[in-house]
Amino acid sequence: MTRESWGSRAGFILAAAGSAVGLGNLWRFPWMTAENGGAAFLVLYLGIILLVGVPGLLGELVIGRRARNSPVGALRDLADSRGWGIVGHLPVLTNLFLLSFYSVVGGWVLRYLLDAILGTPITEPGAYFDSVAFGLEAVGFHVLFILLTGLIVVGGIRRGIERATKLMMPAIIVLLVGIAIYAGQLPGAAAGYDFFLQPNITYLRSNFVDVLLAAGGQALFTLSIGAGTMLTYASYLDDDRSLPADGTTIAILNTAVGVLAGLVVLPLLFALVGNAGTSGPGALFVSLTGAFGTLPAPAGRGLAITFFAVVALAALSSSISMLEIPVSFLVDEHGWTRRRATTVLLGVFLLTGAVNALEPAVFGFIADTLVNLLLTAGLTVFLLFAGWVLGADAIAEFERGAGPLARRTSGAWLLAIGILLPLFLLFTLFSGALGAADVAVPHHWVILATAGTALVAFLGLRHARSVV
Ligand code: PHE
Repeated sequence: MTRESWGSRAGFILAAAGSAVGLGNLWRFPWMTAENGGAAFLVLYLGIILLVGVPGLLGELVIGRRARNSPVGALRDLADSRGWGIVGHLPVLTNLFLLSFYSVVGGWVLRYLLDAILGTPITEPGAYFDSVAFGLEAVGFHVLFILLTGLIVVGGIRRGIERATKLMMPAIIVLLVGIAIYAGQLPGAAAGYDFFLQPNITYLRSNFVDVLLAAGGQALFTLSIGAGTMLTYASYLDDDRSLPADGTTIAILNTAVGVLAGLVVLPLLFALVGNAGTSGPGALFVSLTGAFGTLPAPAGRGLAITFFAVVALAALSSSISMLEIPVSFLVDEHGWTRRRATTVLLGVFLLTGAVNALEPAVFGFIADTLVNLLLTAGLTVFLLFAGWVLGADAIAEFERGAGPLARRTSGAWLLAIGILLPLFLLFTLFSGALGAADVAVPHHWVILATAGTALVAFLGLRHARSVV
């Protein structure tokens, strides 16, 4: 059986950007920003996207296209080692957790979309969200969302994912621009723009490591890196594409939509309710529903339908990429048909998602803490692999099909992903794990542990390489 591939360059870019653009931009980003000091968070977040996100994304693309295989087979075959194959299971696990909570939020979006279409009156947005967020109805909407996801993934790379994202991405962008223009004309919108321009330096100073962790996790989350998504999508690519060019385009598209989302959500909130709204996972739903409610009925309803339709499309174009990782694992590693893999996995997600839809504590832990840790660990593994196991091969893959700029930057890139980024990622990983376990350890100990681990990893990997 020949391995599938993308039909066109635009197809790959739109699918990868579709994976990146999602609830991370529209739902998790405003919530994380509000929780971590507003503009201070934004500055760190953008810095990390540029310095860690883009080179990290390129690391995943390089491994994926080099191997033409999903993460388990990619690491095992490229390193010619069963041990690396075992490590390659981490992204499969990560995606099981990711989609289990993501599908619940996707279900909330479908519910709010349906409410807007039916014109359900919501007088108390906060109480309404609390009553529908967790429980049997939430399970029902999660099931609907995961079934839609499965329906696309079962169609395969070209006829499922590529075809769907080619329609969804332009729709998302056009509709978002439309709402941003509408929102910008509401009286009072300017206060929303100002909100992001006032970094709270005192807050940043006293909570630097916490904000750094949250910003780092969110940067990986929004770019869909650390979960093997970009690796797997790149494994369906041909040799003639420039990975640096495509990767940069994907990151730019994602950041642009993120900024656009901010230009939609904040002016709407400031113009219609006068503040940045409530925080927590319900932020988007509660605040915006309240905002839509202040408009005259037809306008408010039309805006709500458009907005939640955008969010639903963005969520689906990401959830399909989460399902694709375990599907491709079963297809590539165990020879299953795509249909069988998708069906069995849907059964698994029906259950794991239901747990998240019933248990707010489980949901909160996975969505906030666990996902940050898993993505950070995953990206650390990929970058160490590309830097130390692939080494010169990674440079060759980075430059293949690319222009002169790629040849001039490839050396610096390898240095970054092999040494600097793993140090940063290990530090955030350790701090994050200690924080999650509620253990207070002075930062210099964490730095020491990071340096020690990195040294052992570098020496071990160098040794492994010279043995091969
Ligand atoms: N980037 C997606 C979003 O912003 C989420 C995602 C994370 C998708 C990791 C795949 C892998 O919604």
